Amino acid sequence: SIEDRVDDLMSKMTLEEKVYQMCQYVGLEHMKEAEAKISPEELEKNDALGFYPGMRSGDIGKLAEQGKVGSFLHVVTAKEANELQHLAQKSKLKIPLLIGIDAIHGNGLVSGSTIYPSPISQAATFSDELIKEGSRQTALEMRANGMHWSFTPNIDVLRDPRWGRTGETYGEDPFLVGNMGVATILGLQSDDFTGTDHVIACAKHLIAGSSSINGLNASPTDVSKRTLFEIFLPPYRRAVREANVFSIMAAHNEVAGLPGHMDKFMMNDLMRDRWNFEGFYVSDWNDISRIDIWHHVAKDFKQSIEFSINAGMDMNMHGPIFDNHLIELVNEGKVDIERVNYACRKILETKFRLGLFENPFIDEEKAKTVNFQEAHQKNALEQARRAIVLLKNQKNILPLAEKGNGKTIFITGPNADNQTTLGDWVSPQPEENVVTMVEGITSIGEANGYKINYFDSGDRSKEITQENINKAAAKAKSADMIVLVLGENSFRHDWKRKTTGENIDRATLKLSGNQMKLADKMFTLGKPVIVVYVSGSPIAEPWLEQRASAVLNTWESGAFAGQATAEILFGQVNPSGKLPLTIPRSVGQLQMVYNHKPTAYIHKYNTEKKIPLHPFGFGLSYSKFSFGAPTASKTTFSGVDDKITVSVEVSNNGKVAGEEVVQLYIRDNVSSYTRPVKELKGYKRVLLNAGETKTVAIDINAESLAMYDKDYNFVIEPGDFTIMTGNSSADKALQSTTISVENKINLDY
Ligand code: IFM
Repeated sequence: SIEDRVDDLMSKMTLEEKVYQMCQYVGLEHMKEAEAKISPEELEKNDALGFYPGMRSGDIGKLAEQGKVGSFLHVVTAKEANELQHLAQKSKLKIPLLIGIDAIHGNGLVSGSTIYPSPISQAATFSDELIKEGSRQTALEMRANGMHWSFTPNIDVLRDPRWGRTGETYGEDPFLVGNMGVATILGLQSDDFTGTDHVIACAKHLIAGSSSINGLNASPTDVSKRTLFEIFLPPYRRAVREANVFSIMAAHNEVAGLPGHMDKFMMNDLMRDRWNFEGFYVSDWNDISRIDIWHHVAKDFKQSIEFSINAGMDMNMHGPIFDNHLIELVNEGKVDIERVNYACRKILETKFRLGLFENPFIDEEKAKTVNFQEAHQKNALEQARRAIVLLKNQKNILPLAEKGNGKTIFITGPNADNQTTLGDWVSPQPEENVVTMVEGITSIGEANGYKINYFDSGDRSKEITQENINKAAAKAKSADMIVLVLGENSFRHDWKRKTTGENIDRATLKLSGNQMKLADKMFTLGKPVIVVYVSGSPIAEPWLEQRASAVLNTWESGAFAGQATAEILFGQVNPSGKLPLTIPRSVGQLQMVYNHKPTAYIHKYNTEKKIPLHPFGFGLSYSKFSFGAPTASKTTFSGVDDKITVSVEVSNNGKVAGEEVVQLYIRDNVSSYTRPVKELKGYKRVLLNAGETKTVAIDINAESLAMYDKDYNFVIEPGDFTIMTGNSSADKALQSTTISVENKINLDY
């Protein structure tokens, strides 16, 4: 058995060799690339900041050969993966390397991979199965390229959309985030990731960095224990219990004064002891050393390691000296050898399950046939079609199908003809693998009898000059309508132009740079303007939306963004994406969420409405759907294994077939602690032909009704619960019924 193999190997390992399994380093090529970008002086300065402390690319290969590396990250070619494994095979124990990578929405850091829509876009599909299948495909592409561990899903529940990593999240709702997280993990890992088709997943970042002060990455979070349990922790509970996620990454930030990397309660007592997390923890980049450098709660790196490993940490992401210090700490009795044994055991178990001992190498030629294969392209396109949200469609200007007749569409805007549609954690992809907005609209627009005229407005800040704006206006004058492709840029390799993404947080939710100036000019021409947003995070421009004839939020919808968008614009696809987050009207509203507490809007702002620009769950269609009132299969819920089925009739009263997302929300009417006015607890996508009616059934289980009591037991309190169904979280979209619970019910976790 795998256990026997691990036991056998561990019995031959010294303390040092066990500790080396806990060491992860950045790949050779990535390191060389980083070094080449900066001068030796700057490199030294970076050392002082803890970027590559005291390490150079020359050290990396030697360490692998000496068996001093358990894992690598940021290895981005199949060739390098093989080279590093060859080095590891020269070491005494010949233990294969576990290679990790941020394959966040496809194996994007590898050129030639399938790029699926980014996580926020995936959440907008409300289609768990599709996301699970895409993740299964990503695992295949990863394995074909020698990678075994994806640092995804990011199950941070979004609470501050200024956070640059908003596009990497699944939005603001714990239930939706949990579902997407579970689907992603199951797709990547399958049941227990045994064999050569799967990889391990990594739930991150523990915890609550998505609610940091001022929305700045890594800054402190100060939320209550109750908010942690009700909002931020449920996706972790589910990732562990429902999907057996095999690794978890700690967060940069502190919560209530305790850095995530030394939070024993979170890592050990809650995840391991209470929720049975069976895998291992990895630090975030250099974050153990930041316990002293940033947080100042340890006197030096060695003490930081002591605190972190004793709290439950199992692997250090990048950097030297960790191994020496940890060996000393064990010898000095400050870290129990059992902590090292545990970590080493889990890491070896992973390698055995993944079949790395049998064959650590991959066939570099075969990788090319697995990457971007047809079935994967199909899934990526289908995700994009379902992710795009139609926010406005005045006088049914859309779809544009067959209205062409030689009419001209003028396209401009900074995201119109480039790879910003791919989102973060993606390297530049071969042009032929990506359909830009201009390419998609040109090909489908021309087939529908339109002429397409594109002008490159340039990038948002420096290049959208007055001169360019005037040129755009001159060209647009002869057009019949304008498509403005606006938004933000999180494309990782476009450093100088990025306006959002990791470590690029937004001070405002308005369009960056001179985009509004360009838009203003276009509106003055008096033609219909269709706004297409490309952005992983929300854009709060109510005035722009008021003037636009139609607004389409396409997120960062991946390799086929241009195709899916054009299919929707021209009516080949009926839009069905729904917002996985609230879109505020202004930064003043940025803590606005649909699942707020009852007193959140007792008062109003002096200068702002108390409703957001668009509510969670909202998204228009070309069909008109109507809903009946919900009916419950019974009115009393009576035990931990009980279930109530809620049925609702949905009709498509429009002229075209379309998909609708039926949403079910619950309110605990009276409770011992305040509860949200509504919480999403179920959803289902349904396809309805024009004129068709279907009954949609959604189950409510014990977890749908449970809350944490005063002692943090997970219980259902007796009383009434309001069940609401409809097609958005807005009150006016919902109809309700009531069920009740007679006696308190305890859930066992
Ligand atoms: O996985 C990421 C993490 O989300 C942020 N810091 C770097 C890690 C590895 O790239």
